[in-house]
Amino acid sequence: MSQEIAFTLNGNETKVAIQDHWTLLHLLREELGLLGTKEGCGSGECGACTVIVNGDAVNSCLYLAAEVNGKKVLTIEGLATADGTLHPIQQSFVDNGAIQCGFCSPGMIMSAKALLDENPNAKLEDIKHALAGNLCRCTGYVQIFNAVKLASGYRYDAVKVVAWQSKDDS
Ligand code: FES
Ligand code: FES
Repeated sequence: MSQEIAFTLNGNETKVAIQDHWTLLHLLREELGLLGTKEGCGSGECGACTVIVNGDAVNSCLYLAAEVNGKKVLTIEGLATADGTLHPIQQSFVDNGAIQCGFCSPGMIMSAKALLDENPNAKLEDIKHALAGNLCRCTGYVQIFNAVKLASGYRYDAVKVVAWQSKDDS
């Protein structure tokens, strides 16, 4: 069966007809063309498909598209500003060697964002816990944890914070 859902996607009101069995990952990638969210295992094991729904990091491969009706969804495409300026977490990944092949990076960054939105001054143990469901085959995690740690507290960085406050709060 199909139904129409309405939700906020990266700050934009979105209405779309879906099939009841579609996952959010399918909706994003196959129907809406947002290819930044990756499909790895397809079974909740790798975190490559992580997006943020109403502030929480979720595995979009396990999340039914129908369940985002009326909610706010943020994907990796919603982080950079319109002029292409990277979100501070993205920039920190680039600056600190946390990206190699990049397949895990969108999911890692979305998990990190959900954490830092809730706890901007997260400690290393908090970061490890928040990213425990995100697998990386390349970097060995040290650079990733370091990148998130160096991005923590970014909301208090007067230089960086302005562009993202309005976008994040949309
Ligand atoms: S693709 Fe969703 S957890 Fe691996
Ligand atoms: S950078 Fe390649 S899987 Fe993480």
